[in-house]
Amino acid sequence: MFEGPFSHSILKRAQAKGHAVIRLHNIRDWSVNKHKSVDDYPYGGGAGMVMMIEPVVRCIEELRSKTSYDELIYLSPDGELLTQGIANQLSTKQNLLILCGHYKGIDERIRIHFITREISIGDYVLSGGEMAAVVLTDAVVRIIPGVLNDETSALSDSYQDNLLSPPVYTRPADFRGLKVPDILLSGNDREIAKWRYEESVERTIRRRPGLLDEGHESP
Ligand code: ADE
Repeated sequence: MFEGPFSHSILKRAQAKGHAVIRLHNIRDWSVNKHKSVDDYPYGGGAGMVMMIEPVVRCIEELRSKTSYDELIYLSPDGELLTQGIANQLSTKQNLLILCGHYKGIDERIRIHFITREISIGDYVLSGGEMAAVVLTDAVVRIIPGVLNDETSALSDSYQDNLLSPPVYTRPADFRGLKVPDILLSGNDREIAKWRYEESVERTIRRRPGLLDEGHESP
């Protein structure tokens, strides 16, 4: 689930250039029984399995004995909704430990006593936290300075100013009568910047008006 996303494109380059180190740990390696199981039935009954406290805590303890982590993040649909502001904040940290939930969830004692931050990537339920971890990792690593070729390109992403990005075009200027706006061909940088800003504001009002009310969440 991780190899593909972590070995392509920006994440691949970030690691190759030494801007990020991504390590994967299999919780089963800290299982305490011969079946290597890490889940069990919920106390009180009910459907689904629960991730056991012992393998998770043994894993956390071993990793912590070698590395000091700024945050121990648990990915869960009931966590705080991931925003660009949170990604920005996390990208300034040195080491993050991300725990992916699975089954019905993890023993609540892990959340209470070990987890420092709980994050959801959206109001929907995935089968496990792995894909959410990929999303979070991508959002955080791509904005580490030096990762993107053109450093300003992350600053002009949608959401960085609580504004959506303006429309973009490339050649040809006329495709079967479908034209690129004249202003972009004008060579007038000031006017182009003004047009882009206005398009961003207009697009945000039309598509995501709530964004304009949110505070700026830079680090
Ligand atoms: N695990 C399952 N669903 C999730 C979600 N929406 N966000 C983060 N982790 C999850």
